[in-house]
Amino acid sequence: MLECEINSPLSILETEERDGKIVGYALGRVVADEAELLKICVLSDYRKQGIAEKLLGKLLKKMRENGAVACFLEVRSKNSPAISLYQKMGFEQIALRRRYYPDDDAIVMKRSDLA
Ligand SMILES: CC(C)(COP(=O)(O)OP(=O)(O)OC[C@H]1O[C@@H](n2cnc3c(N)ncnc32)[C@H](O)[C@@H]1OP(=O)(O)O)[C@@H](O)C(=O)NCCC(=O)NCCS
Repeated sequence: MLECEINSPLSILETEERDGKIVGYALGRVVADEAELLKICVLSDYRKQGIAEKLLGKLLKKMRENGAVACFLEVRSKNSPAISLYQKMGFEQIALRRRYYPDDDAIVMKRSDLA
């Protein structure tokens, strides 16, 4: 599924390399004027060094260049590191999907000032 998403012509992939290997990536897609953050992940040994912030900043810039005026994402309500990252990057909660996951709610967030 990941390979399929990465290879989609609508997808944008940003990666970060350290020590000769990819240690983080962010994957998004733009459809018409709306973008969606699909995945962001940093290897555990490389966390808390600003890598996710850098990846997301670059991804949002490319989304804007590809015509997006807003970006949406969905995150587990218990994933406080990710929620803090998204808030720091200007995302706001717009909805709560109760029991979206078998063991958690989903928070829907939006950043609407991309244009
Ligand atoms: C969420 C994740 C991508 C953050 O990556 P990171 O490179 O460690 O994040 P950064 O160092 O760029 O941190 C940027 C901001 O995110 C927030 N943050 C990151 N890790 C945090 C933590 N453990 N606790 C609280 N806030 C955290 C903070 O606001 C931080 O800003 P600050 O350093 O000024 O406090 C990483 O923890 C991860 O890969 N988690 C597993 C995958 C995941 O849950 N992805 C999101 C859902 S798909």
